[in-house]
Amino acid sequence: MNLNKWTRQIHRWLSIAFTAGVILYMIAMGWGQPPAWMGLLPLLPLIALLLTGLYLFVLPYVARARNAQRSGGNWALGEKKAS
Ligand code: HEM
Repeated sequence: MNLNKWTRQIHRWLSIAFTAGVILYMIAMGWGQPPAWMGLLPLLPLIALLLTGLYLFVLPYVARARNAQRSGGNWALGEKKAS
């Protein structure tokens, strides 16, 4: 599905933004106490990573439930109806 593909791409690029944010913060630490707003550089991508990451995490379970439901099995157990 397209939305799944996009979420994965966004998660991948957010991981770069997060890493860059951490590195920038560490460089700023070398000059003394960084300003509080600099903490947002890694924090904002991390929050977005958490949301997209949780979405990616549930995808296989939702797909399994849908497949099992379509074939008449117990969706909670991921069962398929014997045919
Ligand atoms: C904050 C909570 C996070 C959660 C819940 C999370 C969850 C996930 C999940 C479920 C996947 C898909 C695994 C799969 O089935 O292939 C994934 C992929 C990935 N995650 Fe995260 N993640 C988090 C944070 C991060 C962070 C901090 C980084 C790196 C800085 C990161 C980098 C990646 C990368 C590079 C992939 C592979 C993306 C791809 O397939 O193109 N994630 N993550």
